[in-house]
Amino acid sequence: MKDTNNYDITSYNTFGIKAFCRRFVEFDSLEELRLILTTLTAGDAPLLILGGGSNLLLTGDYSGTVLHSAIKGISVDSMQESVLLRVGSGETWDDVVRLCVDNGWYGAENLSFIPGEVGASAVQNIGAYGVEAKDIIYKVEAVEIGTGQEVSFTNEDCAYSYRQSRFKGEWRDKYVITYVTYRLKRTFCPQIDYGNIRLELEKRGFYEPTAAQLRDVIIGIRKEKLPDPDVEGNAGSFFMNPVVPRAKYDELSGLYPEMPHYRVDAEYEKIPAGWLIECCGWRGKSLGRAGVHSRQALVLVNRGGADGKEIMRLCDMIRNDVRNKFGIEIYPEVNIK
Ligand code: EPU
Repeated sequence: MKDTNNYDITSYNTFGIKAFCRRFVEFDSLEELRLILTTLTAGDAPLLILGGGSNLLLTGDYSGTVLHSAIKGISVDSMQESVLLRVGSGETWDDVVRLCVDNGWYGAENLSFIPGEVGASAVQNIGAYGVEAKDIIYKVEAVEIGTGQEVSFTNEDCAYSYRQSRFKGEWRDKYVITYVTYRLKRTFCPQIDYGNIRLELEKRGFYEPTAAQLRDVIIGIRKEKLPDPDVEGNAGSFFMNPVVPRAKYDELSGLYPEMPHYRVDAEYEKIPAGWLIECCGWRGKSLGRAGVHSRQALVLVNRGGADGKEIMRLCDMIRNDVRNKFGIEIYPEVNIK
C-alpha cells in the first residue's frame, strides 16, 4: 500500500500534464481499500478514482485525494461454452485481451491495445471496432465509498451505453471497483465488418482470420492512427462521437454526401467527431503547446509541456467551430479534473 502527501501524478496521466495531488493512495487488495476508506475524512475530499490515467485531463494540481487500484489477479472459471474471467481492477486491460486471445477465449479481440486498466473498462464502457466492454462484462464488484460495503452489480445494473455507465452518471464517485468478471466464448465469431478491418485483413491474406491475426491487424491500425503517449501525450479520443436525430443527419448528409456515419437505430445516427473536426480545418494544427493529431483529429495531443488549461482552450475553440459549421454540439469523452 502507498499513502503519500503531495504526490507527483505526472506519470499517472497519459496526457503527460505536470501535476501534483494532495494525497495519493494506492491499494493492493480489497481489505486495504476498506481500511483506507475508514481513514478518509472530509478534508481528503474530493476523491479521484484513477485507473491508468489514459482518459483524464488535469487542469491543475489536484486538491483532493487520488485513489488508485493496484488489485491484481485473474481467476478462470471454465464452463462448456464460455469462460468467466474474474480480473483485479488494477490489471492492465490489454494484458487481459492478450491472455484471452492466447487461450482461445473469444470476444475481447477487437478491444486490443486500448490503454488503461480493468476498472476503467467497466466505468467507461471502452469500445472499438464495433465491440464494447459491455458485450463481455458479466459482473462488476465494488466497494461503496461511504459505507465500506462490498457490492456486486450485473451488466444490466450498470446501464451501459456508448461510453456511458451508471458509474459515470448517478453512481459517480460512489463506488471503487475492485474486480470485473468478463464472459468470453469458446467459439470464435469474428466481428470484422467495422470500418476497414476486413480490408486490412484481406491485404495480409487473412480471409478467415484467427483471433490472433485479428488482434495483430487491430494493433497495427491503432499504432498507425493513434499517437503513442510516450512520444506525444494524449488521452485517445478527446471527444465522443455525436449521436444526432435523423432529421439533423438528413440535413447534413444532403450538404455533405461524403460524411461518414453509423446507424444507431431508426431515430438516431452517429457521426464521427474526427471528421467534423477535420472539416473545420483543425487536423494537425496547434494552439500553443496543445495540438490536434495529424492522423486522427479526434485526438488532442500535448506537443510538449502543455498544461491542462491550454488543452481546454483548444477543446473550446474546436467545439465552437463544430457548433458554428454544423450546428452540432460535441462533448469531451475524457474526464476533466
Ligand atoms: N475520420 C476523418 N478524419 C479524422 C478522423 C476520422 O475523416 O481525423 C473519419 C474516418 O475516415 C472514418 C470515421 O471518421 O470514416 C471514423 O474514424 P475511426 O474509425 O478512426 O473511428 P472514430 O469514430 O474516430 C472511434 C472511437 C475510438 C476507436 C475507433 C475505432 C470514440 C470516441 N472513439 O473513433 O476509440 O478506436 O472508433 O473503433 O468512439 C478512444 O476511445 O480513445 C478511441 C480511440
